[in-house]
Amino acid sequence: MFPQPSARVFKKPRLDDEVRFLRSWIEKPLAMGAVMPSGKLLARTMASYVDLNSDAPVIELGPGTGPITTALVERGVDPRRLVLVEYSPNFCALLRERFPKATVVQGDAYSLRETLGEILREPASAVVSGLRS
Ligand SMILES: C[S@@+](CC[C@H](N)C(=O)[O-])C[C@H]1O[C@@H](n2cnc3c(N)ncnc32)[C@H](O)[C@@H]1O
Repeated sequence: MFPQPSARVFKKPRLDDEVRFLRSWIEKPLAMGAVMPSGKLLARTMASYVDLNSDAPVIELGPGTGPITTALVERGVDPRRLVLVEYSPNFCALLRERFPKATVVQGDAYSLRETLGEILREPASAVVSGLRS
């Protein structure tokens, strides 16, 4: 049997993200800090710590191509709670496409007062960091 059309349309191959990621690592190895995006198990484990019974923002630092973001949404975190702080403009564009209800901020996670000062209106419920050093 062939896959259903919806499965073919919506199931993006992970290889795309791995190529994107590797390309960014070649260009900026120190900023990327890893050669490949996080795997599903790690992403799900990180997402499992976020409180679903809160409306407060969830800040994700360095979401990259969004594997942890995906796990957060799959777990049931309302995408409108997500504030994604990503340094790379290319990844920001991708994240805006993939998570149109999230707030994507192109900026530096190491200067959060500056990066989120105008954006965050209430204390965050969780900060999930995808940064590695
Ligand atoms: C190791 S990758 C992890 C990506 C993703 N969280 C994952 O688990 O696959 C680090 C990501 O953080 C971003 N990044 C690195 N330094 C940053 C900074 N100072 N502020 C915001 N994002 C940063 C990189 O562009 C990259 O997307």
